Amino acid sequence: MKYALIRMLLIASALAPYAATALDIQLPAETAAFKPSELPGYVLAQRNCIICHSVHYIQSQPPASPRSYWEATVKKMKVPFGAKIADEDIPAIVDYLVKTYGAERSSGN
Ligand code: HEC
Repeated sequence: MKYALIRMLLIASALAPYAATALDIQLPAETAAFKPSELPGYVLAQRNCIICHSVHYIQSQPPASPRSYWEATVKKMKVPFGAKIADEDIPAIVDYLVKTYGAERSSGN
């Protein structure tokens, strides 16, 4: 009984340094908004793509998704999902999405 207590104390003191490290929490980068960009589609995406759901839907797509995938996705949001996206805005939105979240990202993104 006595030894069990000593052993517990030893284990607790051995783990103490790890407990201290575990408190060193790194917060993740801001992910609740579209990634800022010079591309015209950035503003259009902000205007058209977070009315029904969060940016998370876009951020969680496979990073290798090609332009055709994003185009199909944006068109799907319009028909059948009913998003009010102007047809002439679609190419710019697709361009921003594939270059920011898809296959045409520049390295380091
Ligand atoms: C009219 C509402 C509406 C708007 C506006 C809208 N979406 Fe969606 N979106 C949906 C619905 C509904 C789903 C499917 C939700 C589910 O499956 O749970 C979805 C899902 C998605 C997904 C997940 C993958 C998939 O294919 O289901 C992505 C990516 C996405 N939307 C991107 C966009 C982008 C980019 C825009 C702007 C061009 C946009 N959405 C605008 C309604 C909308």
